[in-house]
Amino acid sequence: MAEYKYENVKVEIRDGLAWVILNRPEKRNAMSPALHYDMDDALARLETDPEAAVVIIRGAGGNFSAGQDLKKFFRELDTNPAEKKKAAEAANRWRWERIYNFRKPTIAMVEGYCVGGAFMQLLACDFAIAAEDATFSLSEVNWGILPGALVAKVVSDSVLPRHALYYACLGEAFDGHEAARIGMINFAVPKDRLEKAIEDLAEKLMKKSPEVLRATKQAMRHVRTMDFGQAYDYLAEKGKAIRANDKEDSYNTGLRQFLDEKGYKPTFEAFKRGTLIGGKATSDPK
Ligand code: ACO
Repeated sequence: MAEYKYENVKVEIRDGLAWVILNRPEKRNAMSPALHYDMDDALARLETDPEAAVVIIRGAGGNFSAGQDLKKFFRELDTNPAEKKKAAEAANRWRWERIYNFRKPTIAMVEGYCVGGAFMQLLACDFAIAAEDATFSLSEVNWGILPGALVAKVVSDSVLPRHALYYACLGEAFDGHEAARIGMINFAVPKDRLEKAIEDLAEKLMKKSPEVLRATKQAMRHVRTMDFGQAYDYLAEKGKAIRANDKEDSYNTGLRQFLDEKGYKPTFEAFKRGTLIGGKATSDPK
């Protein structure tokens, strides 16, 4: 097992899965400036770490995160604009730009509290699974600020307007079932099955060609803001880019395994990886 060690973050890499753990359990993983700097660095390293195939964001001590640290990120930085700017930039960079654009699949594993600013990393991840009894809250309205940075934006983009307005304006807590019902997470499971559910999802993702998976997630995200003409054009060019970069030659390998070898059904599963013959996909394996 490989490990990265920071003061406020732990990273453990096992069997292709990188568990990135916000590690201030005594503060319910509230995000201090120091935690933001650690996360920013850890994610940058993971992006090019060949041992990490899937990244999972979670918290230590049974909580995802209680949001920004009200003392260290807000009160203490209110009188230090230079440090506030630096901390806010790091906070936004890892919680949005890094995770949203990450070159490998990302999963949020939510248990315990997920509050306020933690919705940024929750919604930046490609997938999210929560414990049924997790507690979500857009608490900003309860103490006098807006769901800032990008929280209001990413919540509004993720769920129907009625749900976004309700939870942002009421600041009412909701559980994992409700988070799944409104589309904020993929699904909720009993707490004792959460880690296994995350591992199962990661295993499925690791069976896909990384290049095809990367292009697919980028395409699904980017087409949302395109018109039809732009989407046709972008998807055609993106498709060509996969063929140019894909070390698995997925297109030809998939066709060979289905049409010639009758080795799998694409409707239900991915082609078998690592089967290039002489470094090349061929329709005649002999
Ligand atoms: N910022 C700073 N410290 C925090 C935060 C936070 N967001 N959340 C918890 N803590 C601290 C508490 O002050 C406490 O510290 P102490 O032991 O030194 O007194 C410790 O963590 C444990 O917190 P408790 O409140 O005692 O734990 P409990 O389990 O009873 O409640 C809960 C947890 C519900 C998360 C509560 O702490 C809470 O409401 N926190 C604030 C959540 C919030 O509104 N976050 C900001 C969102 S807005 C934004 O992120 C931009």
